[in-house]
Amino acid sequence: MRSIIVKPVNKLSGTICVPGDKSISHRAVILGSLTKGTTRVTGFLESEDCMRTVKIFRQLGVDIVVSGNEVVITSGGLHGLKEPKGDLYAGNSGTTMRLMLGVLAGQKFTSRITGDDSLCKRPMQRITEPLRGMGAKITGTVKNDGEYAPIVVSGGDLSGIDHKSVLVASAQVKSAILLAGLYAKGETSVLEFSKSRDHTERMLKYFGSDLKVDENKVSINGEGHLMSKDIVVPGDISSAAFFMVAASCLEGSEVTIKNVGVNPTRTGIIDVMKDMKANIELKNEKTISEEPRADILVKSSRLKGITIEPSEIPRIIDEIPIIAVAAAFAQGETIIKGVSELKVKESNRLMAIRDLFHYFEMRLNDCSSKRLVIPGDQDTKPKTFPGAVCNSLGDHRIAMTGIIMGLMAKGETIVYDTDCINTSFPNFIEILKEVTPEGTIKVEK
Ligand code: S3P
Repeated sequence: MRSIIVKPVNKLSGTICVPGDKSISHRAVILGSLTKGTTRVTGFLESEDCMRTVKIFRQLGVDIVVSGNEVVITSGGLHGLKEPKGDLYAGNSGTTMRLMLGVLAGQKFTSRITGDDSLCKRPMQRITEPLRGMGAKITGTVKNDGEYAPIVVSGGDLSGIDHKSVLVASAQVKSAILLAGLYAKGETSVLEFSKSRDHTERMLKYFGSDLKVDENKVSINGEGHLMSKDIVVPGDISSAAFFMVAASCLEGSEVTIKNVGVNPTRTGIIDVMKDMKANIELKNEKTISEEPRADILVKSSRLKGITIEPSEIPRIIDEIPIIAVAAAFAQGETIIKGVSELKVKESNRLMAIRDLFHYFEMRLNDCSSKRLVIPGDQDTKPKTFPGAVCNSLGDHRIAMTGIIMGLMAKGETIVYDTDCINTSFPNFIEILKEVTPEGTIKVEK
């Protein structure tokens, strides 16, 4: 397993491109596979997670050719999928498993989907329950406190439902129900207490489906058909976030990240950093295939602590570990409320943040399901931290957070178990090398 050794740097500078958005790449493959004819995708994220979705659709009989970040999908359409031979394997990818459950619920055949150890520990009841409510026969692996993968799905003959997401605003839940809704009789709607990322809705509309959005409620009419269109995937703002935070914290930094997706349901990281007095500007804003994108210019600044309310969490759900690092470099306390979802991500990210802070001897006043409290400091200059030896817990975002902390520390850092970075950002190290002096990063096998 690859380890990364990081030396501290004074600043970050340069212009970079981050790879394609993971959420949009998954959805491009899914909707392309459910549309009759040929769909061309450019800017695709060729990462382990997105390739799981590709391989599953190939197993379901869809012809998908991936050449780097270009993908050509040729499908028989909504009713053209074939019963798979053998299990469908989602690896570490929660988006693959949860969105596929929605698709499989609409199929008139039986399939079994599973994942790696981490994915088989993540809650699936939030998806299986509403899909059962629509008429699918689903049997998951039931343990004391819920339902997990492997899951067997016998789909078909679905009816629309009105689903209210009361406990968690999750784009994966919403998307699974909407995808099943494509196959259902009548209307299917999902109401969220706070709006989660809306890439599925945008792409469904772009492909011509009968979909209505009314604030936090989305409704779709089933039994329509989709029309294939070319999709251009923007850069992933969740990947850009690591560079935004490092460049904000390290004095004298100036980094431009080109062509990043700035869909308002994803720009929580920009809003939070701006509230913290980060110096961030958007340039060259444009919208292609229904998804806004822009170049993001970040200059260093002295950050200030803030309070983040639970309603903001869906817009920053994947960025909280790196926001916690920004908060440690800020003047004054930061409180992030309503963070319980972090316990059921690729790792228990609350524990992972607590461990990282411990290894780097950074203070954390509270790290419970209710809130994260990061004291920051009162000086005009950020405090310094020693380098550390840490482990990713097999979680890509924790590995990248540890590496960024290593750049900002005062001694050498080693991060173990970093192969997981390939799930979302395979060329992270190469891009990091573009904005840091030679010799900063060493990869050890
Ligand atoms: C995703 C939704 C989020 C996010 C995940 C990707 C998606 O999960 O954490 O990385 O593509 O729909 P939840 O919907 O469970 O919050």
